[in-house]
Amino acid sequence: MNTYFTRPGNGCHLHYDFSQLRTISYREAARLQSFPDSFHFHGSKTAIANQIGNAVPPILAYQLAQYFGTPGDVVDLFSGCGGLAQGFAWAGWRSILGTDIDRYALDTFAANITSDVVLGDIRDQAIREQISSLARAKRNPSRPLVVVGGPPCQGFSTAGKARSREDERNHLFKDYCALVDALDPDAFLFENVTGIRTMEKGAVFREILEALGTVANEVRWWEVAADQYGVPQRRKRVIIVGFRRLSPFQIPAPPLDQSLSDIAPVSVFEALSDLPPIKAGEDGSALDYASAPITNYQKLMRGQLPVPDYVAKLSERAGLTQSMDTQTTDPQSAAKKGFDLTEDLLRVALRA
Ligand SMILES: C[S@@+](CC[C@H](N)C(=O)[O-])C[C@H]1O[C@@H](n2cnc3c(N)ncnc32)[C@H](O)[C@@H]1O
Repeated sequence: MNTYFTRPGNGCHLHYDFSQLRTISYREAARLQSFPDSFHFHGSKTAIANQIGNAVPPILAYQLAQYFGTPGDVVDLFSGCGGLAQGFAWAGWRSILGTDIDRYALDTFAANITSDVVLGDIRDQAIREQISSLARAKRNPSRPLVVVGGPPCQGFSTAGKARSREDERNHLFKDYCALVDALDPDAFLFENVTGIRTMEKGAVFREILEALGTVANEVRWWEVAADQYGVPQRRKRVIIVGFRRLSPFQIPAPPLDQSLSDIAPVSVFEALSDLPPIKAGEDGSALDYASAPITNYQKLMRGQLPVPDYVAKLSERAGLTQSMDTQTTDPQSAAKKGFDLTEDLLRVALRA
């Protein structure tokens, strides 16, 4: 998923039902990012596409939030519409403020997460002071505090044109560090695209880790693949955690390991098949569902399956490959031999 899912481009955003001959809709893109159906986006179509495409999938953020222990308060820098915040909220954390330079993203954040927002450029000292004083006023000092957020990634992305150290956006991490210092959280989570690792042969990544290390006792990082966390899309992200008062943790193995996710990922069909067929160019977001929810993912999206239950049930997909083992001894060779997985996958997905 990215911000240009409405463009046919190289064909990777076409709806799987080719008879509809169209790219995915906004409603479908939000589903593929794991925003619940009750999450409402504000702004123009372009603004909404940016919000959806830029977001960290909430279901991934939810699982990351679990590792931070007892839930407390969250300050969301570069909050966008609130993908990260939604995941932390599902995990019991309270967002005390969101801040972004994009008015429409903050409208969405305010409508869905918290109305305490700061609109402005984080490079501006006055904006940083506004963020610090609002956070001081809102936080509960007896609860843990975590700062989350990822500066914009275009400058870092391998797909971006201005992938250079000269791109001003690449220096936003310094403002991030200044704010972490001022807010004094127990830990912080800095997320970004995987392209930051290879930029200038790793020099930029080392610089970022070094800068983050000046405001943390320990810094650890991981690459996480959204599909291994039950999100119906293949996209990786870099997650950096800075530990201040929080004891350092390791991110455990994801619910779907690589081989399981290769053979039995949560599919786009599982995510979207209860949504109504539409014509190319039609919005369709106001149309009724085409059917009752038939998969766990659809139940999750409609608020009919609690988030922890959805994540717990992901492991049932391992049962699917085990049952195939009895026939072939090797699930991957089963796929190669042409087993039709569709029916089995649907059976697992349906088991609520
Ligand atoms: C990758 S998106 C964040 C996505 C968000 N974490 C989520 O999960 O929905 C990065 C955000 O940084 C914001 N941004 C870019 N430059 C900024 C600046 N100078 N000051 C504040 N926010 C900025 C963008 O408007 C964008 O919403």
